[in-house]
Amino acid sequence: MIELAEHNQNLRIAYKSTRKSNSKNVVDYNTSLDEIDNTLRKVLSIEDMRKSGTFFTGDELAQTLVGLFKRKINKNSRILDPTCGAGNLLIACSRKLPAYKSLTKTLMIWGKVLHGYDLYPTFIDACKLRIILEAINNRGCQIDCNINKALKLLPNIIVRDALETDREELIQITHTILNPPFTLQKPTLKGLWKTGKVNASAVILAHYLKILPQGSDLSSILPEVLRSGTRYHKWRAFCHSTISGHTKVIGRFNSKTDVDVFILFGKTGGTSKTIDWGTSSLHHEDVISTNFEVSVGRLVAYRDPEIGVDRPFIHSKNVPLWSIIKEFPERRLFSGTAIDPPFVVIRRNSRPDDRYRAAASIIRGNEPVAVENHLIIIKPHSKTLKDCKKLLKVLKSKSTNEYLNKRIRCRHLTVEAVKQIPYFPLKE
Ligand SMILES: C[S@@+](CC[C@H](N)C(=O)[O-])C[C@H]1O[C@@H](n2cnc3c(N)ncnc32)[C@H](O)[C@@H]1O
Repeated sequence: MIELAEHNQNLRIAYKSTRKSNSKNVVDYNTSLDEIDNTLRKVLSIEDMRKSGTFFTGDELAQTLVGLFKRKINKNSRILDPTCGAGNLLIACSRKLPAYKSLTKTLMIWGKVLHGYDLYPTFIDACKLRIILEAINNRGCQIDCNINKALKLLPNIIVRDALETDREELIQITHTILNPPFTLQKPTLKGLWKTGKVNASAVILAHYLKILPQGSDLSSILPEVLRSGTRYHKWRAFCHSTISGHTKVIGRFNSKTDVDVFILFGKTGGTSKTIDWGTSSLHHEDVISTNFEVSVGRLVAYRDPEIGVDRPFIHSKNVPLWSIIKEFPERRLFSGTAIDPPFVVIRRNSRPDDRYRAAASIIRGNEPVAVENHLIIIKPHSKTLKDCKKLLKVLKSKSTNEYLNKRIRCRHLTVEAVKQIPYFPLKE
């Protein structure tokens, strides 16, 4: 994150020249929390931002997170952002703290309250500089020390791997505020996941839920997949046992970042109450899985060698929507499990703003079909075309769209979400 060094240097120069000129005590600096996102986008490509998971929280969302703390922030609070980046969430918290005429006096208080970690020194530098400029520009503090002394008054904002902290160090933390990276990484805590990489936000949050003192306030932005994804089932169960929590669905992170998020907030510590992930009220007795078997297509085009039996081959680009397909333009050799028609397929790619969330087609024919893994297969227990047709109407209905928009806001439908679609066949 060396690219941000020039930005930090400009902040230092602005501070020094304001101090020297002894003029109006306002540094030439835009204090909006949205601005640092623009700065970062000027120096980093979107690929680099994705790789490092550096998407900074804007003004409105940061305020929402702070507003969800149960206990009010005051000068006795000890607030931690374990992945603080350039400090947007800590700045939002500082806005609840008292400020004094003297910058030194203000930072002496803020420095005790605000704790932050990040892997990158330039982010930590930007974070401290921006908190200092916040005190001057937004809170009217008078500059009464040089920049190095001001920086030293924020000793708890440090370069640190958030996953290396232990229980002892966090004993005083009263509030944790968090927008962790959404990158994929190897899991640390065992037993919460199956094999393979998982979302770093789930790993970091689980680490903190395990070691934070009981009764501490927590407010965290998380990717939608954690709220509704099958893969995070055990992680959600772990949350039930470690936080008395609530969720708030937010939708898209910001206009430039195409990822849906929600907030998990509450007090740490075990509880008998379960967290309402916003999906439990959607459970119906008559659901697709009562009448159909749901699975994912077995063929992975780039991986599976072209050996085995010559089969009709379907994928999301060669099955026209809402139609009955019995002739197949493509065939290929496949040695894996092929599916006997009739059955329905729906595309796994599905976005909340799509006209149809469960975009489907019926597959007929006399021979087993090789189905690619971007399609979800729904096979009637009755093995009849009639039930496939009934299902198609249900999938096309407004109520299915509404259900899926509430149940799963991320871009891939899961087998679990499809199984739970309410199944009320409409009259033919
Ligand atoms: C999504 S950004 C959020 C920054 C800030 N909290 C905000 O909301 O504006 C995540 C930050 O986590 C940092 N990060 C990633 N992995 C980390 C780790 N293991 N320990 C500490 N910081 C980490 C990244 O450098 C990045 O600045």
